[in-house]
Amino acid sequence: MIRKLFVTTALPYANGPFHIGHIMEYIQADTWVRLQRMLGHEVHFVCADDTHGAPIMIAAEKAGLSPQDFVAGIAAGRKPYLDGFHIAFDHWHSTDAPENHALAKSIYLALKADDLIESRSVEQFFDPDKGMFLPDRFVKGECPNCGAKDQYGDNCEVCGAVYQPTELKNPYSALSGATPVLRTSEHFFFKLSDPRCVEFLESWTQDGRLQPEVANKVSEWFKRDEAGKVGLGDWDISREAPYFGIEIPDAPGKYFYVWLDAPVGYLASLQARLAALGIDFEAYLAQPDLEQVHFIGKDIVTFHTLFWPAMLKFSGRKVPDRVYVHGFLTVNNGDKMSKSRGTGISPLRYLELGFDAEWLRYYIAAKLNARVEDLDFNPEDFVARVNSDLVGKYVNIASRAAGFLNKRFSGRLSADVGVEGRMLLDTLRGASDTVRDLLDSREFGKALRETMLLADRVNEYVDRHKPWDLAKQPGMDTALHDVCTVCIEAFRVLTVYLKPVLPALATKVEAFLRIEPLRWADAQRSIGAHTIGEYKHLMQRVDPARLQALFEPPAESAATPPPAALPGGEGVAPEIGIDDFSKVDLRIARIVAAEAVEGSSKLLRLTLDVGEGRTRNVFSGIAANYKPEQLAGKLTVMVANLAPRKMKFGLSEGMVLAASHADEKAEPGVYVLEPFAGAKPGMRVR
Ligand code: 2FM
Ligand code: ZN
Repeated sequence: MIRKLFVTTALPYANGPFHIGHIMEYIQADTWVRLQRMLGHEVHFVCADDTHGAPIMIAAEKAGLSPQDFVAGIAAGRKPYLDGFHIAFDHWHSTDAPENHALAKSIYLALKADDLIESRSVEQFFDPDKGMFLPDRFVKGECPNCGAKDQYGDNCEVCGAVYQPTELKNPYSALSGATPVLRTSEHFFFKLSDPRCVEFLESWTQDGRLQPEVANKVSEWFKRDEAGKVGLGDWDISREAPYFGIEIPDAPGKYFYVWLDAPVGYLASLQARLAALGIDFEAYLAQPDLEQVHFIGKDIVTFHTLFWPAMLKFSGRKVPDRVYVHGFLTVNNGDKMSKSRGTGISPLRYLELGFDAEWLRYYIAAKLNARVEDLDFNPEDFVARVNSDLVGKYVNIASRAAGFLNKRFSGRLSADVGVEGRMLLDTLRGASDTVRDLLDSREFGKALRETMLLADRVNEYVDRHKPWDLAKQPGMDTALHDVCTVCIEAFRVLTVYLKPVLPALATKVEAFLRIEPLRWADAQRSIGAHTIGEYKHLMQRVDPARLQALFEPPAESAATPPPAALPGGEGVAPEIGIDDFSKVDLRIARIVAAEAVEGSSKLLRLTLDVGEGRTRNVFSGIAANYKPEQLAGKLTVMVANLAPRKMKFGLSEGMVLAASHADEKAEPGVYVLEPFAGAKPGMRVR
């Protein structure tokens, strides 16, 4: 039976580049989707930028951009990450796209028609310094449920509770630090406490579709107090202007709270995808056997298991079939003390350093299971799993056999391999359903362990038969041919099992073996007396010495006297003392935004954050070398105490450091400096 699957990952906020947690989620979902495709199932795998809400509006304002331009800049930077880590979404959309405006409004109107929307006047925090209602995320205080400090006004990142900002203890404005005051305005509520919603959600969350620990946690909302009232309260879905979002029909100046239209973005993205394929969206969704699957992190469970299914159900739409929740990725156990190593990995830096994306895919898959557990990136463990298992056990099988086959048998496999070889291959093929089921149930770690045990069996077989000895013995050609054929055939079967995790490697293997793209059923087939291609090295080992670069800058190199004339075409400037140097205040700056300057082909306008609580405007003569989207989100180094300079296009409040040849004609190019990972905006460079 062919499954029809509509699969999503959580939509990332369009306020910054991806972090390693996003990439982990995408790797998990992508691996699962690739398995389904290899099985012949029909999948639409989509995502989008989550563009709305006050935080993005405020960030855009700080960057001097319209929210639309701001989120477009973020969206433009997504591709290198997705391509780099082989994340094959079918479509990437935006929650600000017309489809989403229309769908969100129609869902809202359906809820309203079903008498599930209510207007109430709400006392809300107002920042007296800023003169605006404070968005939930900009009120901070102590969680009313667990008491954790510095929690946002909408939900607690420690205990997961969802509440109103006014419920926070000791609130303060994150914009100005002022103590907010209460003001009244009209808000719209989705009446989740309506008995119809409670009844539906209680059954939907407890009918076995959710992971047990998720169902258990969510069940808290349905506990009745003495008066028979459930914990599930109504949900405030409106926000006052100014707000970047979707205006509520018939309520000028009021907007949907971002969390109302964000999940609708799943549907909008699917709709755009289907439109491109000429498939009718509503007809597609109406298929009774369609499965809707959301991969999300444990911090957004409430939105996806209460609000979202209720919105869908009571607007007469299909409800999600599965919500697959994962834990967080920590680095070095989130060890904040381990300064030397750092606790973050930038996914882009990982790629820029030339690390193989599939090392990370393999490592993350090896540590993932179907439960909501955090997963730790541990460098030693990473090296061990990639070098000993992936390369040492699996890739090696091919390299051990391919040379003999090519040199001695013109790459041709033998038609029959003898009893022992057949038995080994039968064992490998016999694991097909087990590995498939483990991958399908998101027990990726177990699936890879199973596969590596099979690889062990193959290596034991090679060690027993010693092709390198057979090759030296006269009259042992047939034995050598059989052993090498078994290796290649085993390698092909193992490649089937690893392909969802290692798609690029599998493509290389397919080219080397000269076979069609592998599908799951190919594990059962025998390749027969087929001729393979030349073996080229399939995968490097990780150099443990290079790992450190992922986390921290290297130790300062010992000072050597500079040569008089340097390759840059410029002699070294006269000697200065450390006091002279320290007059120059160099700081790490985040390029919050970069844009072309109208009327100048040389300049880019950079919006820099050096951790001062405001941003700076700096003009930089790098337009010939960089497109704005290459710079946005990156860190660089700036001279922070340079006197502001009035330019034709505005005030420039500092200077960004870049390398160039003294004579631009001799060697063109300007190279902006970027610090090693771990540096934070505002850190002094000394
Ligand atoms: O938590 C987040 O990053 C949200 N942007 C996720 C939204 S998921 C969906 F609802 F759009
Ligand atoms: Zn809490």
